[in-house]
Amino acid sequence: MTDYINEYCMHTATCGELRMEDVDREVVLTGWVWHNRDHGGLIFIDLRDRAGYTQVVVDPDCVSTDEFAVAEHLGREYVIKVAGRVRARMAEAVNPNMATGEIEVLATGLEVLNTSVTPPFSIEDGIETDETTRMKWRYLDLRRPEMLASLRLRHQVVTAMRTALNKRGFLEVETPILANSTPEGARDYIVPSRPNPGKFYALPQSPQQFKQMLMCGGIERYYQIARCFRDEDLRADRQPEFTQVDIEMSFVHGDDVIDMMEGVMQETLEAVGVEHPFPLQRMQYSEAMRRFGCDRPDIRFGMELVDLTDIVKDCGFKVFSGAVANGGIVNAINAKGAGDWSRGEVEKLADIAAANGAKGMAWIAFTSDGQEKSPIIKFFTDEEFAAMKEALDAQPGDLILFAADVPDTVHAVLSALRLHMADALNIPREGHALLWVVNFPMFRYDEEEKKYAAEHHPFTHVRDEDMDKIETAPLECGSYSYDLVMDGFEAGGGTIRIHNAEEQRRILRVCGLTDEQIDEKFGHLIHALELGAPPHGGIALGLDRLVMLLAGKDSIRDVIAFPKTSSASDPMTGAPSEVTGRQLKEVSLRTL
Ligand code: AMO
Ligand code: AMP
Repeated sequence: MTDYINEYCMHTATCGELRMEDVDREVVLTGWVWHNRDHGGLIFIDLRDRAGYTQVVVDPDCVSTDEFAVAEHLGREYVIKVAGRVRARMAEAVNPNMATGEIEVLATGLEVLNTSVTPPFSIEDGIETDETTRMKWRYLDLRRPEMLASLRLRHQVVTAMRTALNKRGFLEVETPILANSTPEGARDYIVPSRPNPGKFYALPQSPQQFKQMLMCGGIERYYQIARCFRDEDLRADRQPEFTQVDIEMSFVHGDDVIDMMEGVMQETLEAVGVEHPFPLQRMQYSEAMRRFGCDRPDIRFGMELVDLTDIVKDCGFKVFSGAVANGGIVNAINAKGAGDWSRGEVEKLADIAAANGAKGMAWIAFTSDGQEKSPIIKFFTDEEFAAMKEALDAQPGDLILFAADVPDTVHAVLSALRLHMADALNIPREGHALLWVVNFPMFRYDEEEKKYAAEHHPFTHVRDEDMDKIETAPLECGSYSYDLVMDGFEAGGGTIRIHNAEEQRRILRVCGLTDEQIDEKFGHLIHALELGAPPHGGIALGLDRLVMLLAGKDSIRDVIAFPKTSSASDPMTGAPSEVTGRQLKEVSLRTL
C-alpha cells in the first residue's frame, strides 16, 4: 500500500506500489534488505520499506563489477538505494501472496546507504521473541509490518476522530502536563519544582479539571488527544502513560454527549472499515450487573447470570440459605458444553472463584448421557431442584456454577467465571459489540479507606431525584454517567458535571474532605463554579484500548510506539534511571 507520495525523498517509487502497468518504468527504490539470496549467479533481494516489499534482481551483466560485489555482501537490514527497471516476473516466479508479486526490479545501479550489524531478532510478523527483547530494540520491532499496521490504524482512528470533532465545532486545546493532583483513583506521578523547594507538580491523571475550566472559560466545545499519567498496577489494558480522546461540552444533558459520541464513533469506525449498527444499546448499570455481573459486559455471548435467590432461600443447603439469610444472593451460570468435564477440571474452577473473593464454588454437572453429578443435589427438594433446572434451562451437557454471597462478590465471581468458561469452551466472540452502560451509582464505599469515594469522579452530577439523599443515603444516589463498553472493555467514560458550587462542596464532604481541604485542593474549581459556570459534561475515550480492539490485539502495548513493561520501565532508554546528586540537590531532594 502506498500511503505517501514520492516527493521530498531519494526514491521515485515505494516498495509497495509497483504493478504490471509499471513494467519498463525506470525507478529508484530505497529501503531495508529483508532477505537476500544468490541463485545461479543472480542475486535476489527482498527490499522493504513502509509501503511494502519488492523483489530486486541484481544481474552481473546489468551493474558494474563493484556494484555486483556490493550486492553479494549485503547483510540483513542494510539500507540501500537501487536504480532499476520494472519487469514482469516469469510465470513460474509470480507470487500471488505479495502485492508486488507479478513484477520485479532489475537493478542498474546499487548503493549502500548504511550497513547493519546482525539484528537481535528477525524482522518477521508473528515472531516468537519475548516482549522485553522486542521493547529493548523497539525500532526493529516497529519495522515489522504488523507493528506498522497498528500504528497506521492508530493514526487513521485519531485522524477520523479529529475530523468528526472538528466538523461538530469542537476546538482542540492543550492543557498543562505540569499540574496539580486531580482525583481519578490512581497514584500520581510527581515532579519536584526547582524554584519552589519542597513543592511538587503532579502529572495529570486526566485533564478533567482543566477541561471543566475551559467550559467556565466559555470555550463550549473542547477536545484534546491528551496524554494521561497514572501510577497504578499495570495490566494488558493499562499503561502508566496512555492517551485519551478527551471531550467536554457546555449546555448539554447526558443524552447530548452520548448522541455526539455515537456520531463520532460511527464516522471513525466507517473510516477504518468496521461495520457496527447504530444507535447503540443503552443498558442501565443495574441491569449490566444483574445480567453479566460487571459494568463492562462482553455482550457477544450469553451465559448470563441467573438469580436463584428466591428458589433456594429456604433450602436445606446451608451455604445457600445462610447467604440469603445474611442479606446475600445466590446466582449461577450455565456453561453449556462443559457437562462432561471431569470432577478435577470442575474443581479447578474454584481457584478462579476464590481469586475473586468466593468462599467456595458449588456446581452441578448434567452429563450428556443424562446423569446428574454434584456434591450438593442431595440438599434440595425435588421442587427446588426442578425450579433451579428450569430457571437455568439446564440440559444434558451443561455445567452449572454457583455463587452465594453478598451481591458484589457474587457478581465478581460469576463475571470472571463467565469469561473464563467462554475462553475454555471456545465460544465464538467475533466482530465488535459496543454499548453504553449508564446511570452508575454516585458513590461506593471504600472498605480499605473506610470512607465513601466517587464511583466515577467527585465532579459528577448526582441525579436530580437523589439530591436530598447525598448525605443521608450516599450509596442510593445515582449519577448522570455513561461508559462506552466495547467487547468487554471499558473503552470510554464520562459524566455530566456539577456546575453548582454548593453541590460540589456536598459531594467532596461526603468523600471525607473538610471545608479547609476543599478550599485548599479545589478552591479554584469552587470559585469557577461560583462565577457563572455553564451546565457541562463530557467524556474521555481510551484511545489505546480502542485501537487495541480494532487491531485485534491482546495488549495496548502492541498499539503504542514506545510502551513500558509491566514494571513501568522502558528497556530501550533505560527509564526510569538514577539522577546525579547535583540534580537532586537542585530540587532540594535526597534519596533514602
Ligand atoms: P476514566 O478514568 O474512566 O475517566 O478514563 C477514561 C478512559 O481512559 C482509559 N484508561 C486507560 N487506558 C490505558 N491505561 C490506563 N492506565 C487507563 N486508565 C484509563 C479507559 C477509560 O475508559 N476524566 C474522566 C473522563 C470524563 O469524565 O470525561 C476519566 O479520566 O478506556
Ligand atoms: P461445604 O459445605 O462448605 O463443604 O460446601 C459445599 C459446596 O458448596 C462446595 O462445593 C463448596 O465449594 C460450595 N460453596 C461453599 N461456599 C460457597 C459459596 N459462598 N458460594 C457457592 N458455593 C459455595
